[in-house]
Amino acid sequence: MNLLILNGPNLNFLGIREPEIYGTQTLEDIEKQINHYATERGHNCTFFQSNSEGDLIDRIQQAHTDNIDGIIFNPAAYTHYSYAIHDAVKAIAVPTVEVHLSAINARESFRKESVVAPACIGQISGFGAAGYTLAVHALEENLV
Ligand code: DQA
Repeated sequence: MNLLILNGPNLNFLGIREPEIYGTQTLEDIEKQINHYATERGHNCTFFQSNSEGDLIDRIQQAHTDNIDGIIFNPAAYTHYSYAIHDAVKAIAVPTVEVHLSAINARESFRKESVVAPACIGQISGFGAAGYTLAVHALEENLV
C-alpha cells in the first residue's frame, strides 16, 4: 500500500511538548519507527506535518490524485473543531485512520469529541507512538 502519514499542529514539537503526556520521542523518531514497520510489510510511506489547516487539507486532496491507498492521520487540536478537515477526508475515497498519542477520552472534556473521526474508518487513541503502527495494521485489515 501507498500510505500517507499526516500530523497536525504542534506535533513537530514532540519531545519538547508536555513529555508527561506525549512522551519523549520526536516526530522524526516516530516517523522512522513507522517507516521501518511499514517498509518491512511491503508498504511505501510518505510523511507530512503542518501547523496549518489549509496545508493539511491540500495534502489530503492531493492523496486523491497521488494513488494513496490509506491515510494515517493525527489531526491534533483540529480533531476537535475542524469541519473543513472532516469534509476533506470525506471528499476523497481514501480510507483514513485517526490516531492520537494520548487517550483523548480520558482528558479535558473539549478533547472527548472528534469531528474528524466520523469521516474515518476508525480511531486509535491512547497507545502512544504504537498507535501509528496499529493504524498500519488496521488499514491492512480494511483491505481484506
Ligand atoms: C493529540 C490530542 C489532541 O487533543 C491534542 O490537541 C494534540 C495531540 C494526541 O495525539 O494525543 O495536539 O492529537
